[in-house]
Amino acid sequence: MGLSHDDYEVLFLGGGASSQFAMVPMNFLSADGKAAYIHTGEWSRRAIGEARCFGRVEVIAGSEDRHFSALPADIPTPVDACYLHYTSNNTIFGTAFDTIPDPGDSPLICDMSSDFLSRPLDFSAFSLIYAGAQKNIGPAGATVVVIERGFAEKGKKEIPNIYSYAYHVKAKGVANTPPVYAIYMIGLVAQWLKAGGGLEAMGIRNEKKAAILYATLDALDGFYRPTVKEPAHRSRMNVTFRLRDPSLDSTFLKEAEEAGFRGLKGHRSVGGFRASIYNAFPIEGVEALAHFLKAFASRYG
Ligand SMILES: Cc1ncc(COP(=O)(O)O)c(C=O)c1O
Repeated sequence: MGLSHDDYEVLFLGGGASSQFAMVPMNFLSADGKAAYIHTGEWSRRAIGEARCFGRVEVIAGSEDRHFSALPADIPTPVDACYLHYTSNNTIFGTAFDTIPDPGDSPLICDMSSDFLSRPLDFSAFSLIYAGAQKNIGPAGATVVVIERGFAEKGKKEIPNIYSYAYHVKAKGVANTPPVYAIYMIGLVAQWLKAGGGLEAMGIRNEKKAAILYATLDALDGFYRPTVKEPAHRSRMNVTFRLRDPSLDSTFLKEAEEAGFRGLKGHRSVGGFRASIYNAFPIEGVEALAHFLKAFASRYG
């Protein structure tokens, strides 16, 4: 595509990643056009729902028939779409795209809320990326939007300024009072990321962390059931699994909490368990969890 950093604007907007579900189609889904979406879980479902308020949506691929435990087997290249939207990491179901889907001639838009800055990435493949800060990059309150300036300018003109990417780009991110405290914290996190070797080092660390947990779960397959089977579809951020014997669920949670592991309960919409191992989570924590998983399985298996 030949785009460089200078072709992009980075904005910090309020309203959470969810408000981008609406802003994207408000800006880019034209009355006579269609938007293409890949449906891989709860967040894409919401993005699709919001887009339908603004125009025609075509879900070109989805994995609902597999309860979102895998990515779609075939993703066709969209033709004449206003944009292609996908969710790079499916926070609730524990799947993630290892490679970037081919948008053909359509602009590519990604909800990268739960794996933004978790590894190196070819940003030039995207016209717009958005990510709620609260997973990898800082406190809740700011949503990072990385947008190609030329793409922003192509947005609809007849929308309110405050919802217009072009307006925010022109105002260099201070069209209104941005979430300054969250932005300050994001700056500190960015410095921490750089000091630790940047995205390259973070990518290696995250790969290692996820590999430890998946290897542990796979080795104890008679006791645990990782919900995502295909290695290429597995999230490096959210490792989801179940116990083969669900009658042990509450004992598992209780003993995990006693051992210091909090937040392992899966999202209320899917149940099971989820280890969220975002950038800030250390390798030592993952090793300790793997140790706990093995010990629990040998006690109850
Ligand atoms: C992938 C993804 N998209 C969107 C959202 C919604 O973000 P927010 O709560 O900031 O609106 C989340 C929240 O967890 C998410 O994981």
